[in-house]
Amino acid sequence: MRQSSLVVVANRLPIDDSVAPDGACEWRRSPGGLVSALHPLLRQTPATWVGWAGGTGPAPVLPDVDGVHMQTVPLSADDLRDHYEGFANATLWPLYHDAVEQPEYHRRWWEAYQRVNQRFAEATAEVADPGAVVWVQDYHLQLVPGLLRELRPDLRIGFFLHVPFPPPELFMQLPRRAELLRGMLGADLIGFQRAQAAHNFAQLASKVLGLPATDRRIGVQDRVVRIGAYPVSIDTAEMAALAGRPDVTARARRLRHDLGDPERVILSLDRMDYTKGIEQRLKAYSELLASGDVKVRDTVLVQVAMPSRERVGQYQILRERIEREVGRINGEFGRVGEPAIHYLTQPFDRAELAALYRVADVMAVTPLRDGMNLVAKEYVAARVDDTGALLLSEFAGAAAELDQAYLVNPHDLEGLKQGILSALRAGPDDVGDRMRAMRDHLHRHDIRAWARSYLSALDDTGSLLTRLSSTG
Ligand code: G6P
Repeated sequence: MRQSSLVVVANRLPIDDSVAPDGACEWRRSPGGLVSALHPLLRQTPATWVGWAGGTGPAPVLPDVDGVHMQTVPLSADDLRDHYEGFANATLWPLYHDAVEQPEYHRRWWEAYQRVNQRFAEATAEVADPGAVVWVQDYHLQLVPGLLRELRPDLRIGFFLHVPFPPPELFMQLPRRAELLRGMLGADLIGFQRAQAAHNFAQLASKVLGLPATDRRIGVQDRVVRIGAYPVSIDTAEMAALAGRPDVTARARRLRHDLGDPERVILSLDRMDYTKGIEQRLKAYSELLASGDVKVRDTVLVQVAMPSRERVGQYQILRERIEREVGRINGEFGRVGEPAIHYLTQPFDRAELAALYRVADVMAVTPLRDGMNLVAKEYVAARVDDTGALLLSEFAGAAAELDQAYLVNPHDLEGLKQGILSALRAGPDDVGDRMRAMRDHLHRHDIRAWARSYLSALDDTGSLLTRLSSTG
């Protein structure tokens, strides 16, 4: 088994299978996200990514992708149902997002969660060099740091939670709360998106496990576990370059024309998820159409909703409700050739996405709760001419940094309607000032800065960091 000095462990591998022109199946690095942040570093050091390739049954053996070894972890049909769809996405996901849908608790799901986390820990233990740095990602794998430390106490273990970490009142519901906290505390450094999450975690470590805890450090037997906020970001320069490309600019013009050359285009782009506040946004928009504050003749809404976790009941119900509401609104307010809402559920490539960002005068990102929301950041990065109004929920992690956005509380329907109108009617000077400040922030706080600050805190021997800075 090949050994690596840096191992990233995440539920999903950072690759997509695509069909080559000759019909062969190829694996390619997926665009965006964590993988682009870590790629320069991963390429420079013997590195492995441990993750699930999608699907069920035996794990496919994959070739290295851009020099990074792919170590696949198999999931059976039962694991998929009880770990991924069950404990991860029907227990932890709703619980961590303010319980906006009821979390479900089943003992069988917990057993699957333990079993799959154990498998990930074992796969990681096999590929890590002595003293290697291991970075475990997200809520699917919260037991891995603890399990891995038992197997390999020599490793430097980091854990990063991409989703919110809830306040004690909510977390206390979780039947196996102590085990879950202990699992995370197997790490040397636990990273969160926001300082509030680190605070919640420290309170729980003290309350549930009786450990000495501050918002920065927790004492666990003879170790100190550090905690802190490391807000994740995007590859700002890459999105800006893409959005500024002449073909993307031309495509944006064409899209605007195809939308009927309206005065204002509003874009929303979400994974189809009940945390994203899509229904609340549609309701607000429909009331604005009904009152005549917004007119189909001069304003269009483009709602992209990518289907997600489609076998989970709550997601199926959500999709039906959204599609019924979009149909109702278009039936009531649209005209022949002029729908009120352009509703799309198809995947887009990065260039088409950038063109959509370029065409949107207003980007409405109004989740009820969101760890960060990288779509909001991508929109800002794509507005290379400093135009465009970002309407952003106070409950998205991004709001802590992008506070020049038009901020709204998506639970407050009247406030949401006012927010949409303010963003639609904002003058160019106000819009420009806000956008410039936000773009500037994102150029300084991009995904490489994020990875560098987290890894330098984790790896106090400094060897990985030296490699990272030499790769920019
Ligand atoms: C969130 C999670 C990620 C997850 C993504 C897509 O952003 O934090 O870990 O990969 O949603 O969800 P999926 O269930 O398709 O992996």
